[in-house]
Amino acid sequence: MKINHSSMFSSLWFLVLVFLSLAATTPSSFPLMGIASPSLLLSVSAASAKSGATTATCDDSSTEDDGSSSCGNPDADAIELDADVDVITLVEDDSIPSLNGYGKDEQTKTKDFAEYFSAYAELHHQKDMLTDTHRMDSYYRAIMDNAGTCFKNKVVLDVGTGSGILAIWAAKAGAKKVYAIEYTDMANNARQLIKDNGVDHIVTVIQGTVESITLPLMEDGFLSADSDGDEHVVDVIVSEWMGYMLLRESMLDSVLVARDRYLKPETGLMFPSHATIYLAPIKDEQSRLDNVRDYDDAVQDWYAFLEATSNNYKVNYETLSDNFIQEQKDFYLHTSQWKELSDQNFVLSTSNSDVFDADVPEVSDNTNAQQQQPYTVIKELDLSTCTLEDTRGIFGRTTDPEQIHKGNYDWNEFDFVIDPLKVTSAISGFASWFTTDFKSRTDDMGIQNKAPQLKDNYVTLDTGPSQGYTHWGQQAFYFKDAIRINTDLKQASGGKNSPKGRTKDSVRVHLKGKIELMRTKENKRLYNVRIEHHLEEIIHSNPTSTTSSDNDIITRQTDVIEAVYKMI
Ligand SMILES: C[S@@+](CC[C@H](N)C(=O)[O-])C[C@H]1O[C@@H](n2cnc3c(N)ncnc32)[C@H](O)[C@@H]1O
Repeated sequence: MKINHSSMFSSLWFLVLVFLSLAATTPSSFPLMGIASPSLLLSVSAASAKSGATTATCDDSSTEDDGSSSCGNPDADAIELDADVDVITLVEDDSIPSLNGYGKDEQTKTKDFAEYFSAYAELHHQKDMLTDTHRMDSYYRAIMDNAGTCFKNKVVLDVGTGSGILAIWAAKAGAKKVYAIEYTDMANNARQLIKDNGVDHIVTVIQGTVESITLPLMEDGFLSADSDGDEHVVDVIVSEWMGYMLLRESMLDSVLVARDRYLKPETGLMFPSHATIYLAPIKDEQSRLDNVRDYDDAVQDWYAFLEATSNNYKVNYETLSDNFIQEQKDFYLHTSQWKELSDQNFVLSTSNSDVFDADVPEVSDNTNAQQQQPYTVIKELDLSTCTLEDTRGIFGRTTDPEQIHKGNYDWNEFDFVIDPLKVTSAISGFASWFTTDFKSRTDDMGIQNKAPQLKDNYVTLDTGPSQGYTHWGQQAFYFKDAIRINTDLKQASGGKNSPKGRTKDSVRVHLKGKIELMRTKENKRLYNVRIEHHLEEIIHSNPTSTTSSDNDIITRQTDVIEAVYKMI
């Protein structure tokens, strides 16, 4: 689940909270202090930045009065995005965001509680998740449809049980033992609920982080004296750990720690078992224009403030203008937005036969179907085999065949093929979302060892625009300036050398680019997203095909636009 939303002043809140939290003796006292707020998750502080692509132009209005631009100047931008450093240091730097058991000091632990866990201690927040019917139906069906094969007489671990719902379902599906782990005081409510629903003889609630607790396996008879302390006795891990764009909140790290310590490697099942992140160009000019208008209004308002303060109080605030404007730009133009989009927002649709052209490796059952869709896959995870490295974000295009075979890959390049005669509306930005599947094991070890099979028509929890409401919605990344295909290409370089063979049918516009998703330095549960894109007009040698060939000719291309968005 996913804690929202925006407040310009969350950093301030955060400072207040950290101050208060340091004075507190136990983390669990926070909810009782009545100061926990979901907005605390917004506490990403602005920092200095780097620009990754030297050839790129920035999607911002950073041109100065003297005509120079702050774009690409490491000191001028407001978002820290030093991918190289993050890549090198993250592993050594304790990539598990959550707390004890990993040598975290008290201050870091308290900060994590303040920013992340406090909201989960509140019932109204748990209720937001419990009333997300698409989420609930998916987990319920996945557990109940596979009760006989996967849960009956099995040992189940629920990582992050919250109010206890998944643990109760696992018990009702026939599990002989369910361990329900919850860090916050919500554990007390879970205990109560589990008792009142008559499954307390099966479910044991343990309060603590899954990283730091020890399951009472010996006491419960799952470890014998001669088992040499091998704790791999769990048959199924159920968990709802997903955040915006799948990875936000970084709770998956904790689930993987539990998997590696407790799940039977040969036959153990993960519920969910596979996860996929998608990207699509969208049209939603209303929202894009609202952002631009709000940004313009904020800047106008600042200048009115300057004048009034100078006139009335004889102090000139001009020197702070750049900082203020940067702050507003980051907030209105470089922050992703929660959206409930629909198919109407897709730029490409199956009906106009513009198909996705990128060459995604064939590891997913759905690859062919996806090629008929107006979106592309940018990451896939097999929860049985992925590593902590895989959970850190999206960094490139995985080429290692073994990784691809294992079902864990990043595919951060996109290439959307557009028929310029059919797509005349403006493109307002990109949107991203995820699915999780509840499938049988697809890794070699699981297959060889005949891990229990789930039903063939497996359950998918889909948070995309076609599926209606989920509390995850989609993350939208709006451009400052919309893409208008024909207008933009008219201004692009090239155009004069069009070959004779050019026909309307053979011209395609490719919206190409790259996306990166990476944890912020300040808070490992939050992510920044960097997107670069440009248009290429291509004359295809085979007009009926949209896939690339060596004989295709690029006739025009626009500059690369790059923007970094905070995902809050
Ligand atoms: C998204 S909620 C899901 C709650 C519940 N399973 C459900 O489906 O309604 C995730 C829960 O996991 C808990 N949690 C997150 N990380 C944890 C960790 N490392 N150890 C124990 N609990 C954790 C949170 O406090 C929160 O209650």
